[in-house]
Amino acid sequence: MSTWKTPQRIWLTGATSGIGEALARKLIAQGHHVVLSARNAEALEALCQGHPHAYPLPLDISDRAAVLKAGDALRERLGALDLALFNAGTCEYLDAQQFDMDLVERVLNLIYSAPCTASKLPCPCYAKRVKRVYLPG
Ligand SMILES: NC(=O)c1ccc[n+]([C@@H]2O[C@H](COP(=O)([O-])OP(=O)(O)OC[C@H]3O[C@@H](n4cnc5c(N)ncnc54)[C@H](OP(=O)(O)O)[C@@H]3O)[C@@H](O)[C@H]2O)c1
Repeated sequence: MSTWKTPQRIWLTGATSGIGEALARKLIAQGHHVVLSARNAEALEALCQGHPHAYPLPLDISDRAAVLKAGDALRERLGALDLALFNAGTCEYLDAQQFDMDLVERVLNLIYSAPCTASKLPCPCYAKRVKRVYLPG
């Protein structure tokens, strides 16, 4: 991050707490143009407040239609994306005695399926510009 010489246009999910929030604050402080997503709209507003190049985009990343719709907002705010950071996710622990496939599907959907959906965003500049996608977990 510190090697970028010009402001990058970045979409970061999971920006309201933990690693994502810390990253959001750092990117904003470095002058990058960021769209921040998570479900908690109030927390996103608070993060972006007073920062003209930070935009809240509340959404549930497990909602495929909402993720696809995000393309319009991203294009409107940033024009094109240089980097997408799919950090949103949850931590749920499996009970070894009672394997819960619903839990597994929930966790994997957030970490892997949602970013794959997002890679299909109908934003003309997106496919050309995004060269790096980071999948946590
Ligand atoms: N911390 C670790 O040790 C660790 C280890 C391995 C992997 N990870 C992964 O790294 C990522 C960040 O971890 P963390 O500890 O910083 O997590 P965290 O503090 O729990 O933050 C998770 C973030 O994801 C957002 N989020 C959760 N479900 C969402 C959904 N359905 N749609 C949109 N946003 C959603 C949350 O915001 P809202 O509640 O506002 O939606 C929050 O901003 C996660 O994907 C986690 O699984 C963490």
